[in-house]
Amino acid sequence: MNFKIAVLSGDGIGPEIVDQAIKVIDSVCRKKGHRPEYRKGLVGAVAIDHTGDPYPEETHRICMESDAVLFGAIGDPRFDNDPKAKVRPEKGLLEMRKKLGLYANIRPVKTFPDLLHKSPLRKDLVEGADFVTIRELTGGIYFGKPQGRSEDGSIAYDTCVYHRYEIERICRLAFDFAMKRRNKLTMVDKANVLATSRLWRETMQEIAPDYPGVDVEYMFVDNAAMQIIQWPKRFDVLVTENMFGDILTDEASVITGSLGLLPSASIGLHTSVFEPIHGSYPQAAGKNIANPLATVLSAALMFEYAFELEPEAGIIRRAVEASMNAGVVTRDIDSLKAASTSETGDWLGEWIDNSNM
Ligand code: IPM
Ligand code: MG
Repeated sequence: MNFKIAVLSGDGIGPEIVDQAIKVIDSVCRKKGHRPEYRKGLVGAVAIDHTGDPYPEETHRICMESDAVLFGAIGDPRFDNDPKAKVRPEKGLLEMRKKLGLYANIRPVKTFPDLLHKSPLRKDLVEGADFVTIRELTGGIYFGKPQGRSEDGSIAYDTCVYHRYEIERICRLAFDFAMKRRNKLTMVDKANVLATSRLWRETMQEIAPDYPGVDVEYMFVDNAAMQIIQWPKRFDVLVTENMFGDILTDEASVITGSLGLLPSASIGLHTSVFEPIHGSYPQAAGKNIANPLATVLSAALMFEYAFELEPEAGIIRRAVEASMNAGVVTRDIDSLKAASTSETGDWLGEWIDNSNM
């Protein structure tokens, strides 16, 4: 196959980790006879520096014309410490999600047998944990209007808005996932307080009879935050609104041992985006120490969801497991004998070149 991949490396460690994912994609494509074609686009702080816009029109065009987007990370401390900044790098990511209609963010959490000791949680609790969070990505408090400040600046407000159709489409997608997995769906909300959450519950209760084989439960977000780390194995598919999903998935990364391991796929109306769940880790930028595996595993999701090439995705996952087994890991996993970002990418690429899968 030929595929066009838009490469949006972004800020901080973004370019380093994306380079490793590209090595891996190239190796898999060589092995299987595919021809990837990469086109770079600016996004985030680097795009603001070059064009004044964190998601320039040109970048959007490249994304729309591609079969998939490989995304690094976004964010720059220059803007975090300036609450009055007119434009922020994160706006680029949010605009990309909105303009591409990426209403579903799929975040799988699965422990790696070789890294069980890395989790701060007890081994017997995390061993075999395997769930996926379906996070709504283009609605809720991230996008609701009005948002802003009163004239004298002393009051600030954000608005959480959900339309029934937004809830229905993400819940149906979550049911589809549950049916391909263990038929268990947990909806996370705050229906005891929020009107939007009550609309989520109402909508879910209306469509649930269409999926008689799936066992649906409802859980308040504060309780879910506790249960995810107390008993992660009880979950199969979680579905939740934008901000709850953001928070719960960072929390869930603790189960696997490092935030540097969790990939994600954002899917919806136009080109899908594949990105690690972590941020731009500016303290590590340019030091060749960041963990590239979340991005590499996002490339595996790209083969699975965007190209429908499950065996290629499997090769990448096997390579990642082999690297852990061989102890080729970055310093977030092993501070004593750590491999660099680029050494990890080289190792994975070579493993794929030499494998007979
Ligand atoms: C994520 C990130 C983003 C989000 C930020 C960088 C805007 O935390 O993808 O989880 O909040 O969605
Ligand atoms: Mg986040």
